[in-house]
Amino acid sequence: MQQCLNRGIQYETVDSCMFYYSLVKMKKPKLVLELGTGNGSTAFMIGLAMIENSRGEVITIDNGKDWIGMGEYEKAIRWFTKHYKLEKHVDFRCEDIDLEKIKVDKIDMVISDFDRSAKFNLSLIIWWLYNANEYSSLFIDSLSENFDAYSHVKETIDYFNRGIVPGNLPKNLWPLVQGYKFTQTDIRKCRNMIEHNSITWIKKEPHFIGVEKLYYE
Ligand SMILES: C[S@@+](CC[C@H](N)C(=O)[O-])C[C@H]1O[C@@H](n2cnc3c(N)ncnc32)[C@H](O)[C@@H]1O
Repeated sequence: MQQCLNRGIQYETVDSCMFYYSLVKMKKPKLVLELGTGNGSTAFMIGLAMIENSRGEVITIDNGKDWIGMGEYEKAIRWFTKHYKLEKHVDFRCEDIDLEKIKVDKIDMVISDFDRSAKFNLSLIIWWLYNANEYSSLFIDSLSENFDAYSHVKETIDYFNRGIVPGNLPKNLWPLVQGYKFTQTDIRKCRNMIEHNSITWIKKEPHFIGVEKLYYE
């Protein structure tokens, strides 16, 4: 575990790796998608939690853009996946991130750590709703340091909680919004850096009155 964690030093993601590791241990998701593998620290820590859970798969996508000229990126990530014995749980895809091409069924967690634009993040929310499980979480790294994107996302989530799909989003999202509760939590990291200082966690869950059903989920 320590070796996987140390990989997080490069992108200052050691703490968030522990966060995702713990969450995966607790929630035991079947399917996680990570957009932006980097050097693999988050995906590997999630993979380790999945080994301990004896279930789950994390699909992680990166085209190696940030790694050009730094050796053979794809080979290195595949080598470490094997080295840490994570092949059963980590599906690394060395390609451009194109939401239209990502086909998944009932995703439990999505972690996005590469594009902080408003345009991309609204597309991501739409994609997530179409593909999300009943209970699902979307994490966007460093969103709150990008105020334009942050405001768009926050307002969209506020609308969802009022049962409204904003006019700039597809109308057929309505059944995926109505009857669900959305919670947005912005986790600020402790160092008050100008960038890479937060994780925005958006949670979707059915809107039950009372707790009876929750005991069985
Ligand atoms: C901040 S790093 C991810 C860090 C990683 N999540 C971690 O915890 O260590 C962002 C990654 O996104 C990748 N990336 C950027 N644009 C991309 C694109 N359009 N398609 C695929 N990968 C991309 C870069 O190569 C880089 O490795």
